Amino acid sequence: MSELKKPVFKPNREFAAQARIKNMCEYNALMDWAKEDYEGFWDHFAKEKITWMQPYHTVLDESNAPFVKWFEGGKLNVSVQCIDRHLDTRKNKAAIIFEGDRGDNQVITYRELYYNVNRFANMLKNNFGVQKGDRVVIYMPMIPEAAYAMLACARIGAIHSIVFGGFSAEALRDRIEDAQAKVVITADGAFRKDKPYMLKPVVDEALKGTSVVEKVCVVERNGEDVTWVAGRDYSYNELIKNQSVTCSPEPMESEEPLFLLYTSGSTGKPKGVQHNQAGYILWAQMTMEWVFDVKENDTYWCTADVGWITGHTYIVYGPLAMGATTVMFEGVPTYPDAGRPWKMVEEYKINQFYTAPTAIRVLHKSGEHEPAKYDLSSLKVLGTVGEPIDPPAWKWYYEAIGGGKCAIVDTYWQTETGGHIVSPLPGATPIKPACATLPLPGIMGEILDPQSGEKVGVGESGYMCVVRPWPSQIRGIWGDPERFVKSYYGDVKKDGKPVYFTGDGALYDEDGYITITGRTDDVINVSGHRMGTAEVEAAIKKHPNVAEVAVVGKPHEIKGEGIFAYVVLKGEDTVSEEMEMVKEINNVIKKEIGNIALCDDVIFVPGLPKTRSGKIMRRILRAIAKGEAITQDTSTLEDPSVVQAIESAVNSCKM
Ligand code: PRX
Repeated sequence: MSELKKPVFKPNREFAAQARIKNMCEYNALMDWAKEDYEGFWDHFAKEKITWMQPYHTVLDESNAPFVKWFEGGKLNVSVQCIDRHLDTRKNKAAIIFEGDRGDNQVITYRELYYNVNRFANMLKNNFGVQKGDRVVIYMPMIPEAAYAMLACARIGAIHSIVFGGFSAEALRDRIEDAQAKVVITADGAFRKDKPYMLKPVVDEALKGTSVVEKVCVVERNGEDVTWVAGRDYSYNELIKNQSVTCSPEPMESEEPLFLLYTSGSTGKPKGVQHNQAGYILWAQMTMEWVFDVKENDTYWCTADVGWITGHTYIVYGPLAMGATTVMFEGVPTYPDAGRPWKMVEEYKINQFYTAPTAIRVLHKSGEHEPAKYDLSSLKVLGTVGEPIDPPAWKWYYEAIGGGKCAIVDTYWQTETGGHIVSPLPGATPIKPACATLPLPGIMGEILDPQSGEKVGVGESGYMCVVRPWPSQIRGIWGDPERFVKSYYGDVKKDGKPVYFTGDGALYDEDGYITITGRTDDVINVSGHRMGTAEVEAAIKKHPNVAEVAVVGKPHEIKGEGIFAYVVLKGEDTVSEEMEMVKEINNVIKKEIGNIALCDDVIFVPGLPKTRSGKIMRRILRAIAKGEAITQDTSTLEDPSVVQAIESAVNSCKM
């Protein structure tokens, strides 16, 4: 219990005085309002925040739970929410500030964004035949055209599905096929560390062997040669020239889909998480306002990639919905040196900076003294996301970057939650290092005992749940309603009713603060990227010499977790070529998933620890990977001697 005791840092008083939520009384008042009149609370904000084309008649319909409906009867357009409604007051305000890898930059005002998105939307309709409800896959680098593409889809009611640019051709093809996308938007490539890299060839490879995609739109960014398939591939740069700068927005029902985003689960097949219109954009905007407390003249920078949910909600939709200035960065934070982000903070006078613990660890390790070279006094709020942050990284972030005066908002959420669910409020919540603190107002987040469904006591592990539906929650898994129910509503019941379970374990401390302890399922978190062990195993099994494989996570100094694979080979003589096999296995992973899933350790073992019914005892494998003593009873294993053999294989690799 003593390790639960953490130092407490109170909000900066000057900052708190001007914050939207100024103290814990205001936080508690909002929470009490939501508890006493849940629908009234959301009704108030939906009316205040959203520019409706047609008012809704019902705030929340739970009659078919867990398939819920928010703001039924209402119509809106998310691109109007993000652009058009700002034109009266903010037309010349920077909407997006883009900094390229090589230091080139562009400022896109709200008026220019309006024109660019409308042109893009017209091009999708006129040249690519995209209609409302069609799925469009976006496989793009971090350039403004990625944001235009998202908003253009939103404008015409098409459903975008962004695939992170680090995924391989196979992974891209799987996602294209699952969504049955008829158009892919990509770029020739972009720049990384001053060198061009390519995306279009990956699309070409992905489209071999699938006929769902009719047309490919190619943004020319790095100017490298690419292959053009006649009748399929078209240049954005050519087509965009002739498009009209007006495009009337499609009135969308509150519960029509806005986008899909594939994420890992506990099976080999990624899930197409579906988010709909009104509830998603409402919470994206509210959390931007509450958690980052962005003000009219602020410049906000989130370093994520649009390929992940953080890029969706907190680079594009949230900031633009509230009329903020959002920075988009193409490069990597350590190039040309680990002072790059701090140089950008100084140059753009960044006020809110949001990144992942992995980036903080890398920047700390490779450039501890870099921040001191720059003027970081513009910073007001620092955010972290995606994985637990360790206290040393937190301390450096707080002191060296925030100068001890900025709140750190440790935002806990997921692809499925659409926006933050547990996070400090920078002007109100006293913070503790590496602690996500309290559920946000309106979010009924509780740590429950999975057996009894009761709230757990201080220091007891439980499951992080949300016991009432909320507007930005996942609406379904594309094409698989059963998997949706089973994945999120199958594990925990409160008062006999299934509740949303995040998949994460958590603890309360003596102040009722929540600390997220990590996944309870077979999902690992590598550099803040979610990876299903089953997905990595399915890839490794494609190697013809692999008989069996089990993948577990192992703590990693920089990445948070690394991937550790136990591989049983077919035949005996192959073990002599272990080094070669490790390379080959990583090549298969590269081909099937992408570099983000490469293994840190591959250990060849004679067998896996299985129960008599054939279930792999992963807890044993996790303990061995971590170098911990095995406390489980191994007598129930089919072959207990295998444990010793695995331990000696691991130990001989350490030597
Ligand atoms: O395990 C939790 C971890 O990241 C998972 C969600 O991953 P993804 O859907 O890819 O979204 C990442 C960006 C929101 C969660 O189930 N996670 C996220 N934020 C935190 C976290 N773990 C600890 N602390 C956080 N602040």
